[in-house]
Amino acid sequence: MTTDTFKPRAKTTEQVVGLIKAVTHDTPQAAVVLGSGVSALNDLTHAHIFPFEELFGIAPTVSGHAGSLTIGRLPENQDVIVAVMRGRFHLYEGHDWNVVTLATRSFIEWGVKELFLTNAAGGVNSSFNVGDLMVITGFRDLLSEVWQKEGLQLLKKAPQDCQNDMSNRIISAGDELHRENKEFRALQKGVYAAFTGPSYETLAEIEMVRRLKCDAVGMSTVPELLTVANSGTAAAAISVITNVWSDDQPMGGHEEVLEASKAASRRLDQLFRHLLAKKHKI
Ligand code: HPA
Repeated sequence: MTTDTFKPRAKTTEQVVGLIKAVTHDTPQAAVVLGSGVSALNDLTHAHIFPFEELFGIAPTVSGHAGSLTIGRLPENQDVIVAVMRGRFHLYEGHDWNVVTLATRSFIEWGVKELFLTNAAGGVNSSFNVGDLMVITGFRDLLSEVWQKEGLQLLKKAPQDCQNDMSNRIISAGDELHRENKEFRALQKGVYAAFTGPSYETLAEIEMVRRLKCDAVGMSTVPELLTVANSGTAAAAISVITNVWSDDQPMGGHEEVLEASKAASRRLDQLFRHLLAKKHKI
């Protein structure tokens, strides 16, 4: 027996899309990935639900992630078909990039045109508040070999820009919702830095990402953003700010993140319904 026997086997994108198409011929106009503790679009109708293990061959291991893909329609607008990933795979779970990007590559293969990514993130920008939603306008990849090779040379480079038509639409939709109802907080915009984790950052790392001109830190999303580049799928990402770093205090931990994600999820849900039903003007 080889040790290989014990390795979970990720499916190929062809297998994933084949499993989906065996159950539904609906191709969603958009896919949404929900990060730690983030909940939205819970009431889709005509829903098909695939547990991750069945669909991708790999089970999720992080609490706060349901680990399923739901394909369904918005109850208030039955023409809108959407695929919702509750949870994702991370490098800190021990998965390689192949597994971490499998869902995104499957969406590309399936022909989904728009991918909305979300994550829980720590605020590094001191003007942020817990529960804010931040549209990611740029990112720093501190996950991959680029970072290990370049190290502080990165200080000389600007963050990677990821503004596009989708991120602009999110910003317009957020402006509209805020104008209509002040309880919908104005969206923040900023640069997201992804670390491998799984432990939260040290204060020295937070100081470093401040110098790298980042506004938020997390452990995901960058692999997905890198994967869609030059594909037929466009992507935009939103961070739920679950904690704000101060200069002298380490953060609380995963439970604190899950609590704050719940509170912000109501606004995120509103934002997605507005966007998917194309209610915004621009
Ligand atoms: N750092 C990294 N990941 C996170 C954080 C954080 O402060 N908050 C939520 N996810």
